[in-house]
Amino acid sequence: MSHDSRIALTKDGVSLSRLVFGAWRLLDGGARPDADQVARLIGSAVDLGLTSFDHADIYGNYEVEAAFGAGLSRWKGKREDIELISKCDIMLASANRPQNRLKHYDTSGAHILASVDRSLANLHTDYLDLLLLHRPDPLMDADETAAALAGLVKAGKARAVGVSNFTPSQFDLLASRLPFALATNQIEMSVLKTSALTDGSLDHAQRLAYPPMIWSPLGGGSLFTGKEAREARVRAALAAVAAEIGAGDLATVAIAWLLRHPARPVPVLGSMKPERLVAMAKALEINLDRQQWFAVLEASEGRPVA
Ligand SMILES: NC(=O)c1ccc[n+]([C@@H]2O[C@H](COP(=O)([O-])OP(=O)(O)OC[C@H]3O[C@@H](n4cnc5c(N)ncnc54)[C@H](OP(=O)(O)O)[C@@H]3O)[C@@H](O)[C@H]2O)c1
Repeated sequence: MSHDSRIALTKDGVSLSRLVFGAWRLLDGGARPDADQVARLIGSAVDLGLTSFDHADIYGNYEVEAAFGAGLSRWKGKREDIELISKCDIMLASANRPQNRLKHYDTSGAHILASVDRSLANLHTDYLDLLLLHRPDPLMDADETAAALAGLVKAGKARAVGVSNFTPSQFDLLASRLPFALATNQIEMSVLKTSALTDGSLDHAQRLAYPPMIWSPLGGGSLFTGKEAREARVRAALAAVAAEIGAGDLATVAIAWLLRHPARPVPVLGSMKPERLVAMAKALEINLDRQQWFAVLEASEGRPVA
């Protein structure tokens, strides 16, 4: 049985592709990609069914959104056939933001509205399919933040809103002031980072029936490059499962391991290499059985379950 190719986010029709393209590392390679190269990358992702693109205002030191937007203008497809996600509230100390004396967070209404307007201009669009608050802000005034988010939805600038890296309690606080449900919490999880299984995050997602988005689903690449004992154990366990099910790539099994969870996690893939995206998309055809899934968990934790 294969996984659904789409995942519903809201009751009124906003949905994401089952695997999302993460744009964080777009400008991390050697040479900066030009608009045509970005357009080709967008095309490769869409051809694979990855129609949803995850951004944040801060990616690439505040420069990824504009580079992606330039590529989007060259891409031949239609805006309504893709979903654009962005985030706000992290304030980097950066030459591109000289007013920020130190890294901090800002969930004030004024900052959220200004940041979204910049994201829309950078991405050459008049709406985001999903806006996320990037990190919990200890100074968040839930009434003020919720009013800004609701205003953006009402104005048609965001079709849905959610959060990222929030605890269930922080999520519930913001949700309590909104006239609609928060669509997701984007959290870190992978075969190397399993805390969401036990810290209440995935329980909360199942309880409220929202699909959690998953960042760094390959541990930011450390799954392949890491030299720690844990990484070596997990690679060996993934290789054993790959051999059992005839998967050619460890990344395929690592993504299938996330997809197996009943909370319906939506992995945000960080590779900029189309051939690696192809390998990960094969996970959509795989359903690990319980013992395969637990073998990877055991390798990650370094001991059998109690
Ligand atoms: N909400 C948040 O706080 C937050 C935080 C971090 C990230 N994110 C989102 O999540 C997305 C994914 O995060 P991520 O980039 O850390 O994801 P990831 O998929 O865990 O890591 C991607 C990295 O792994 C490398 N990689 C992939 N396959 C590899 C292989 N076989 N061998 C060696 N290296 C390999 C990629 O390099 P290549 O490009 O060379 O393949 C890339 O550098 C980001 O783009 C962003 O949209 C959100």
